[in-house]
Amino acid sequence: MSESQKSYAARPAWIEVDLVQLRRNFQIINQDKPPNLQILSVVKDQAYGHGAAEVAKTVLDAGAKGLAVATIDEAVELVENGISSSILIFGERTEEEFKLCLEHNFTCFINDLSSAKLYSRLAAKAGKKVNVHVEIDTGLSRYGVRWTEALSVIEAIADENNFVLEGVMSHFAMSDELDKSFALQQLERFQQVLQDIEKRGIQVEYRHMCNTGGFLDLPQAHFNLVRMGTLPLGVYPSKVCRRINGLQPVMTVKTKVAAIKDLQVGDFVGYGMHYQASSPRKIAVLPFGYGDGFPRVRNQGEALIQGKRTPVIGGNAMDAMMVDITDIAETKLWDEVVIMGRQDQEEISVHELAHLKTSVSYDILTCLGWRLPKVYLT
Ligand SMILES: Cc1ncc(COP(=O)(O)O)c(C=O)c1O
Repeated sequence: MSESQKSYAARPAWIEVDLVQLRRNFQIINQDKPPNLQILSVVKDQAYGHGAAEVAKTVLDAGAKGLAVATIDEAVELVENGISSSILIFGERTEEEFKLCLEHNFTCFINDLSSAKLYSRLAAKAGKKVNVHVEIDTGLSRYGVRWTEALSVIEAIADENNFVLEGVMSHFAMSDELDKSFALQQLERFQQVLQDIEKRGIQVEYRHMCNTGGFLDLPQAHFNLVRMGTLPLGVYPSKVCRRINGLQPVMTVKTKVAAIKDLQVGDFVGYGMHYQASSPRKIAVLPFGYGDGFPRVRNQGEALIQGKRTPVIGGNAMDAMMVDITDIAETKLWDEVVIMGRQDQEEISVHELAHLKTSVSYDILTCLGWRLPKVYLT
């Protein structure tokens, strides 16, 4: 366990991360991809809740080319954990952040002329020549220079003495759905910019556009680098994208039965009185709530006890939820419960939890509570 995740009381609610499966997933992806394609491993937001440093070390060891995060603090945390690979930081930077990028040799994006001037001046002052990437906005309308204006900005950046234009990239708005028409339009816009750059004789080492959805379903957009966060974790971005045999989720979220009670006819369960027993029931209280990242539900969702699905009853609280164990008579106090993941033959997937929250797997993973200790299986 890393320092920030040290738990002084062994709380009966925790996250298990199987680093052996993570390595296996990465190896499977390595075998699936074309040999000359490199993988940048996206470990922002604690590697989607799995623990950035541990995930980063495992994937680098398994062949990742480098790492990407979203904030300077995330990058610094990786360095403080002894990681020395290249770190690319997504998004835009303030002047203070640019200075920190220089200090730590982080690679950042330069998407317009004013930040190019600023960063170049700061780099000159620090006596450094720095790698930069340019993001082309091909239709997401988030960060980056609009594709129609990209060439002049890239030319100016390529002309700066303090920069090495290491990468040019773009990001899909929708790569993991069946309808790829907009993704293909974005790809065409990106390819046009790349052709223009090439015509001007501007050298760029990395061209990258794909996240996991693109990697799986749009091989024509691979170029020489893909940025992947979710796939090595064994989580597909959607139901419809291509499957690779053998990938398995590396995270299991667990808790324990903290109390067992008998309900009499007419008893209510939970805040808001959303459940009332119409027959005598046996329930288990689990010390795991929406404060830990379980969606805020009322009589929805399930947990696994003794390898069986058991329904959540009533409205769940910040720190606890109740499940009906009437049909699982063998349940005992402090039995292990799986909130997300596999127990025997049953599995609750991250997508099942996302469905309860009318959201996506990324949202569930990144909202798992900071107060859940992580246990790494190695
Ligand atoms: C710019 C960028 N590239 C790549 C990724 C990785 O996406 P995925 O986890 O779907 O592979 C993200 C994640 O949100 C991203 O913001």
